[in-house]
Amino acid sequence: MKNILIIGSTGQIGSELTMKLRGIYKEGNVVAGYIPGAEPKGELAESGPSMIVDITNAQQIADAVKKYNVDTIYNLAALLSAVAEAKPQLAWKIGIGGLMNVLEVSRELRCAAFTPSSIGSFGSNSPKDGTPQDTIQQPKTMYGVTKVTGELLSNYYFHKFGVDTRSVRFPGLISYVTPPGGGTTDYAVDIYYYAAQGKKFTCPIQKGTFMDMMYMPDALRAAIEIMEADPTRLVHRNSFNIASMSFDPEIIYKKIKEYVPDFEMTYEVDPLRQSIAESWPNRLDDTCAREEWDWKPEYGLDEMTKDMLAKLKIKFGK
Ligand code: SER
Repeated sequence: MKNILIIGSTGQIGSELTMKLRGIYKEGNVVAGYIPGAEPKGELAESGPSMIVDITNAQQIADAVKKYNVDTIYNLAALLSAVAEAKPQLAWKIGIGGLMNVLEVSRELRCAAFTPSSIGSFGSNSPKDGTPQDTIQQPKTMYGVTKVTGELLSNYYFHKFGVDTRSVRFPGLISYVTPPGGGTTDYAVDIYYYAAQGKKFTCPIQKGTFMDMMYMPDALRAAIEIMEADPTRLVHRNSFNIASMSFDPEIIYKKIKEYVPDFEMTYEVDPLRQSIAESWPNRLDDTCAREEWDWKPEYGLDEMTKDMLAKLKIKFGK
């Protein structure tokens, strides 16, 4: 891939992935697609081209692809799980209407397309521990419904039209750059922000609730490596389980306390987020990703905690 369009370039993943892709594909164009009100700023705005690309507008996607001779689209526009429950129609419009636009433009203009899925594509009746690559996926959240549908639709476009669709099921993503908004796993980002500022944290997820999590550098590498993978080795496409760590609120709290001994946490459980979290796996089995494209995480909880706290302390001038 040389010329890349990122839809949702100013969001939680896009803001970092765009910069990383610009560092790798220096000879090409890495176009930051954004919607009005979420314009790229600073380095993101200055380091490469940007364009208004609303995923619900197929013409805008096609215009960007033609203008920059794009060969790969990263489709990162989505509502996170708790927001999608509050706005199910909009979640479908962006997640599936938008995906259909991306796939149609990819079919007509011959692009490869990456559209992330999630641990949210599983439901209460999926195996909870060591959740297999191929298993029951009957989520009851709108977020999950759009993710499973997105996986099926992306595979359909590959088999029917030969569109090079690939993706991964992301765990909860943790980063110090752009905060997520309205996700169920967000507590594992917020907890570091509070700890780094010397504030007490109120956790919305009950102790004992395990979910897969991942540090952003591993997630970005996964998104790039899957699109660079040798297609003849891929048995699966949409989407691969990937995993690096699984913890509950007590485990991350105790880990942070190793570095910030005064840090305090109490619980005030949010019923919506808790019920979503309980329906998700405890820990995914990522054997297929390891076998088919050599996926391997680099960060565990300890490495991530050290790096998050160091970076956030700089950010907050502590
Ligand atoms: N981080 C997402 C959420 O919590 C899950 O993929 O909604």
